[in-house]
Amino acid sequence: MIDEVFPAHEEIELDLLLEAIWRHYQYDFRGYSRGSLHRRMERACHRFGCEGFSHLQHRLLREPAMFAELMGFLTIQVSEMFRDPAYFRALREKVVPHLRTWPSLKVWIAGCANGEEFYSLAILFREEGLEDRTIFYCTDISPAALAKAEAGIFDLARIPQFTENHRLSGGHSSLSDYYTAAYGGAVFDKSLRARAVFAEHSLATDQVFAEAHLVSSRNVLIYFDRGLQDRALGLFGESLVRGGFLGLGARETLRFSRHAGAFADFDAGERIYRRNTVALQAIADA
Ligand SMILES: C[S@@+](CC[C@H](N)C(=O)[O-])C[C@H]1O[C@@H](n2cnc3c(N)ncnc32)[C@H](O)[C@@H]1O
Repeated sequence: MIDEVFPAHEEIELDLLLEAIWRHYQYDFRGYSRGSLHRRMERACHRFGCEGFSHLQHRLLREPAMFAELMGFLTIQVSEMFRDPAYFRALREKVVPHLRTWPSLKVWIAGCANGEEFYSLAILFREEGLEDRTIFYCTDISPAALAKAEAGIFDLARIPQFTENHRLSGGHSSLSDYYTAAYGGAVFDKSLRARAVFAEHSLATDQVFAEAHLVSSRNVLIYFDRGLQDRALGLFGESLVRGGFLGLGARETLRFSRHAGAFADFDAGERIYRRNTVALQAIADA
């Protein structure tokens, strides 16, 4: 895709806006992919009635209440349960047999958004008999998204798509076993999150907090520039046990990363990689 070219003065103003957000609110969006961030901040200006990025910055520094709403423009929560069913089928058929060999498991879902990816994995692990030995760490930078993930309530209109994805992923139970219709939504069984921890964590600024056997971080790196992608992939590599698995989104790869040598392709088509014994480039460089 050809990078969009924006006027130089807007780029400077956007830099200053992101710097102000970082210094005032401690959220770091400076390493995000520029084109899409630029367009989203233009939409935010429109929403807040601001004439440009400088005006938005001026107001944000004085009106903290605006920031929570701005987070909705800075982050994108688009997701589905069992999104890209072939990925979940590959986990089920190819990764699960390896996971079974560990007596206890930790799964890190980095950028879990409103929880669709977590509930998919929790259901898959229950179906495959791994749930009782697993702890799920669900992290995101958006507190609003994490609250929704923890509530586990999804619009009923989305359920047919989730059901079809679950079937295509090789699900061998009925998705309807896991939710009840209430409050105008599908309320997922709270037992699914009995072994889950939901926490704020930024791949841009925070460190590794746990050892993991599987890191699933899908459709998060696409919002980052190359440097920030490298940082996140370094964290995944540090977190994974030797032989642990990393799953990325359909449009994401670690091929061009400085950490590529620390992973081996496991199912390249489904963007599933395996941590090998080679030291992370970042560690080797230190
Ligand atoms: C498009 S959603 C991905 C949802 C889900 N993983 C999937 O593939 O369907 C991207 C998520 O990444 C989160 N995110 C953005 N920047 C992040 C960061 N620096 N650290 C952690 N999560 C981040 C956003 O808040 C958003 O919830």
